Amino acid sequence: MNYKIALVPGDGIGPEVVEQTVRVLDKIGEKYNHKFNYTTVLAGGAAIDATGECLPQETIDICKNSDAVFLGAVGGWQWDTLPGDKRPERALLGLRKELGLFANLRPALLFEELADACPLKAEIVSGGMDILVVRELTGGIYFGEKGFKDTELGPAAYDIELYSEEEVKRIAIVAFDMAMKRGKKLTSVDKANVLESSRLWRRIVTEVAKDYPEVELNHMYIDNAAMQLVRNPKQFDVIVTSNIFGDILSDEASMITGSIGMLPSASLAKGNFGMYEPVHGSAPDIAGQNKANPMATILSSAMMLRYTFGLSKEADDIENAVKSVLKAGYRTPDIMVDGMKPIGTKETGDLIVNAI
Ligand code: IPM
Ligand code: MG
Repeated sequence: MNYKIALVPGDGIGPEVVEQTVRVLDKIGEKYNHKFNYTTVLAGGAAIDATGECLPQETIDICKNSDAVFLGAVGGWQWDTLPGDKRPERALLGLRKELGLFANLRPALLFEELADACPLKAEIVSGGMDILVVRELTGGIYFGEKGFKDTELGPAAYDIELYSEEEVKRIAIVAFDMAMKRGKKLTSVDKANVLESSRLWRRIVTEVAKDYPEVELNHMYIDNAAMQLVRNPKQFDVIVTSNIFGDILSDEASMITGSIGMLPSASLAKGNFGMYEPVHGSAPDIAGQNKANPMATILSSAMMLRYTFGLSKEADDIENAVKSVLKAGYRTPDIMVDGMKPIGTKETGDLIVNAI
């Protein structure tokens, strides 16, 4: 089969981790007789420098005409002083909205080989941890009305948290479907003791649950969920939550695994279309030095094969290759411990390509 992929290398370490991922994908293509056709487009700081805009229309058009979008990372200190609506991060929000990517899947998996990197006590995570955060990605306070106004206390600014029943329903369906494929347990996180939008969220999730009698559903307030994640992370299977709560909880969950450089993500639209990217950012301090860990990006390509292209055997191959490289004791600086063999970005790519 032929697949059209829009590549957005972006900023910082983005281009180098994407480069290694393309090698891995091409190896999969060779082995299974698929052809991946890439079109490289600009977004983020790289786009600001080249065109003055963080998300050129051409980028949006090419992404919309592809089967999937594959992104490295955007942002960097060069653009930190730009006003909010001109910053590279706006490109991410723009892509999510323009491409209708309402469902963000962020797996937080504790790799057996890297268990020592987990900052929690061994007994809390013994036996492993495997959580999937399903974050709503195109609604809520990120995209609600925002502005400035005068108040009794002087000038003020506001951002509105708004969720329609339909937005909650469609993300709940994605989360229940994921739970059915995993441990059949779903925790919906909200702040229903205070927020009206959370009470609507809870009511709709409870309604959707009727179609999934096999899934055990519970509701949790965000403050409690943040606490439970470090107290007893093994109680969670799938977590579904709003845009802003999901932003926060997914960082917390990934930190617990101890290896944010290892975690992939998928942002899905209705149907099979999706955008795939590592959870880590652009890490400008180590860019261009062959130090970045490309595994999160390479694992994101496995998610792309599985969710958008329906190629699960090929996806398994990539995941197994990554695990075999870890098992053989190779480590990039972010996950290095005594006694392991140090490697760089490119060598990681070499080893994974060879293992496929
Ligand atoms: C993320 C990031 C983004 C977000 C930023 C860069 C806009 O933190 O993908 O989690 O808040 O969604
Ligand atoms: Mg975030």
